[in-house]
Amino acid sequence: MIIPPGSIIGIIGGGQLGRMTALAAANLGYKIHIYTPEKHSPAAQVSAFTTIADYGDKPSLKAFAKSIDVITFEFENIPAESIQYLEKFCPVRPGNLALHVSQNRLREKKYLNEIDVSTAQFFAVRTLKELEKAAAKCGKPGILKSAEFGYDGKGQHKVFAHADLKKIWKESRLKTAILEELVDFKKEISVIVARNSYGKTLCFPLAENVHENGILCASRAPANISLGLEKNAQRIAIKIAENLGLVGLLAVEFFVTKNNQLLVNEIAPRPHNSGHWTMDGCETSQFEQFVRAVCGLPFGPVGLTAKKTRMVNLLGRDVEKWPEILRNPGAKLHLYGKSEAKKGRKMGHVNYLEF
Ligand SMILES: Nc1ncnc2c1ncn2[C@@H]1O[C@H](COP(=O)(O)OP(=O)(O)O)[C@@H](O)[C@H]1O
Ligand SMILES: [Mg+2]
Repeated sequence: MIIPPGSIIGIIGGGQLGRMTALAAANLGYKIHIYTPEKHSPAAQVSAFTTIADYGDKPSLKAFAKSIDVITFEFENIPAESIQYLEKFCPVRPGNLALHVSQNRLREKKYLNEIDVSTAQFFAVRTLKELEKAAAKCGKPGILKSAEFGYDGKGQHKVFAHADLKKIWKESRLKTAILEELVDFKKEISVIVARNSYGKTLCFPLAENVHENGILCASRAPANISLGLEKNAQRIAIKIAENLGLVGLLAVEFFVTKNNQLLVNEIAPRPHNSGHWTMDGCETSQFEQFVRAVCGLPFGPVGLTAKKTRMVNLLGRDVEKWPEILRNPGAKLHLYGKSEAKKGRKMGHVNYLEF
């Protein structure tokens, strides 16, 4: 079904991904209605309509869904029950399955392995006993993560040999967790693939990502990897999107191991930080492609507009460097309209283009 320009797109979540989607949607003549519990959210600042309510508030969800033409997400952690409820009133894209799978790291990795996509070894952990067993079975350093609601490396704890597991488990305060083997990777890369309701797919060129303390600090595109590896990563991303029947965007984060094996780290059924380079370095931005995919419009081209683009996140007080960034003719600045520059908070990003 085509949702033509002039329609209202509802977005669940009010963060920077929603903000940049709203800006791209406005460019194509759509109006945006943001649904978020947050007051003065980055996305609401640039959108035509906003509902401020909890993700479980049924009367508000109903009123929202009845006032728009299609629903999408910039944030996937909303209760499954709310998603099913919304589906009664309005088409929901990417759809329940994609959201359900990506909300929980255990479910996500199990799902990927079931469709023959490789991941790091992993173990479910709900108690100290299970952590002890998992660490012994894993037999190498691991990383303990919260199964749900983790982002930007939050809720993650490294587990090395002879670690005091009792202390780690207690301090983590986790209830449902996953222990993953710590992958000694050569690189981290990501693929973003768009898929529409007719089943058509198109991948962006790959990005190579650098994380520090679990948070993305920079991406560069195109990734410096072999054509074979690039094709393989894109093939895997398309396979996952097709299996999920996803409509919209799917971001797939990979580890490239020392022997060039691809392991999927995690997936996100929405625009992704590692795709921000496309706003200036690609013929179509991930946000515009997202809108096109959700609304059933033809995809935009994904050729590079620069030889190389480097995206750098502005975390916390990095944002104070804006005057210097604006003086650089090769830099494109994007700020998210957040007032408090808390440590590690994503305040904006810069794309540096090299021709
Ligand atoms: N199993 C792992 N082995 C090695 N590094 C990891 C592993 N899991 C996470 N990391 C590092 O931490 C980063 C953030 O972890 P991720 O699972 O993607 O969580 P988040 O949801 O917070 O992005 C990864 O991009 C990677 O750099
Ligand atoms: Mg990640």
